[in-house]
Amino acid sequence: MSQLTLDHWWQPFTNVRAFRGNPRLITRGEGCFLYTPDGREILDITAGLWCANLGHGRREVADAVRHQLLELDFAPPFQFGAPVTFEFAAKLAEYAPPGLDRIFFTNSGSESVETAMKIAYAWQRARGKGTKTRFVSRERGYHGVNVGGTSLQGIPNNRKGFPVLDNVDFLPDLLDISANAFSRGLPERGADQLNPLEKIIALRGAENLCAVIVEPIVGAGGMVPPPVGYLQRLRELCTQHDILLIFDEVVTGFGRTGAAFAATRLEVTPDLMTTAKAINGGSVPMGGVFVRRDIQETIFEAAPGSGPELFHGNTYAGAPVAAAAGLAAFEIYEREGLLTRAAGPIGRYWEDALHSLRDLPQVIDIRNYGLLGAVTLAPDPAKFPGGVGVPVHNRCWENGLLCRAVGDNLVMSPPLVIAEREVDLFIERLRRSILDVFGA
Ligand SMILES: Cc1ncc(COP(=O)(O)O)c(C=O)c1O
Repeated sequence: MSQLTLDHWWQPFTNVRAFRGNPRLITRGEGCFLYTPDGREILDITAGLWCANLGHGRREVADAVRHQLLELDFAPPFQFGAPVTFEFAAKLAEYAPPGLDRIFFTNSGSESVETAMKIAYAWQRARGKGTKTRFVSRERGYHGVNVGGTSLQGIPNNRKGFPVLDNVDFLPDLLDISANAFSRGLPERGADQLNPLEKIIALRGAENLCAVIVEPIVGAGGMVPPPVGYLQRLRELCTQHDILLIFDEVVTGFGRTGAAFAATRLEVTPDLMTTAKAINGGSVPMGGVFVRRDIQETIFEAAPGSGPELFHGNTYAGAPVAAAAGLAAFEIYEREGLLTRAAGPIGRYWEDALHSLRDLPQVIDIRNYGLLGAVTLAPDPAKFPGGVGVPVHNRCWENGLLCRAVGDNLVMSPPLVIAEREVDLFIERLRRSILDVFGA
C-alpha cells in the first residue's frame, strides 16, 4: 500500500486535502464489518452509504454478476433489452406500492430524481396541463446532485454556489428537537409544518404546480422521521389540488423501514417513487423510478406512434449485470426475510440500544425508525464550528466504527442483517467515541 498514489482520484463529497494527510482506506468487507489494509476491523453502521443492506461480501450476488458478465456483459437498452432486466423489473413490481408497477431504470439516486422530474413534466403535458411546471421540495431534503436534484436540495451547502432552477418552493424542515426530543418512531408533534403547502398552492396556483417531492423519512439531512399524520395530509393535499406526489426512497427503500418501502410501511402511496442504492444490495450501480401505471399509459397515448414515448435514458440503465445482481439480491432479501426484519425484534432492540445513549449529557436528541437512527449532540460552535458530528465521526473511525456525521448529528443505517451483539458493539464504540471527544 505504501506505493499507492492518492493524487489522482478527486473523491466525491470529501475533504480531499485532509484525506491525503490521513487516508482512510478500506480493502475488504464481510457481513457488517469492513477491514483496513492493516487488518483493522470496522463495524459498518451505515451499510456503506445506505446501500449494503444485505451486508458485505454476499457470494450469491458476486456469482450472479460473474455469470452475467460472461453470458451477456452488455445489451443496448435503447430499442433493445435483455430478458434479465425485464425479469428484475417484474420482481420489483411485486413489491411496488399499489399501482406503481412500471419501472424506469437509472444508475443512481441522482438520475432517478432527474428521471422522476422529467416523467412528471411529461405527464402534465400529456394530459394537457403543460402549465404545471413548478416543484415543491423541503428544507433539509437531499435529492442528489444533478441539476434538477441540486435545485430540489434543501441542504444549503449542496445548492449554494451552483445555478439552480427557479421553479422550486420549499416546505419547512421537520426536525424540531424542542418539541420532539427522544421520540421513538414517528414524533407526535409537527404535522402542522405542512400548513405552508397550502400557502404555496394559494400563491403559485395549483394550475402551475407539477409535483411535491419529499423523502418520506429524511436520510442524508440527519434522519428525521415525519410527524404522525404528516404524510397522510400531504397525500390528501396533493390529490385535492391535482399535484403529483413523489417519494424519494433512495434511502428508505428495500427494507430500511421494516417494509419494502416507507410508502408501504407508512401506508401512504405516492404517484412516483425514486430508488437506487440497495435495489441490488448496493453491489453494482443501479436506480429505478417506480411509476403509476396510468401515468405511463397517458404519456404513451399522447406520444406519436414513431420514436420513443420519452426522450430520456442512460447507456447503463437496466444493465444486465446490475439486473442480475438485483435478482440475486432479492433472492436473499426474500429468503432471509430482510425486507421486513427491521419491523421485528431487531428493530426494537436497535431502538432501545440507541436510546440507552440518552444518559450522556452531550446527547440532546435520539431518533429512530426501522433500522435507521440518529443521535444529535449539543452544538458547540466555539469549539467545533463545522458541527460536533465530524470530530465524533473521526473518533469513531479510530475506535473501529463507521457512522455518518451531518452537522451536529450522527446518522446510522446498519446492514439489515445486523445481529444484537453487533448493535451492542456499535453502542459501546459510539459511547466511547463521544466520551473521547468531549471528555468523560
Ligand atoms: C434521498 C436521496 N435521493 C437521492 C440520492 C442520490 O443518490 P446517488 O448518490 O446514488 O446519486 C441520495 C443519496 O444519498 C438520497 O439519499
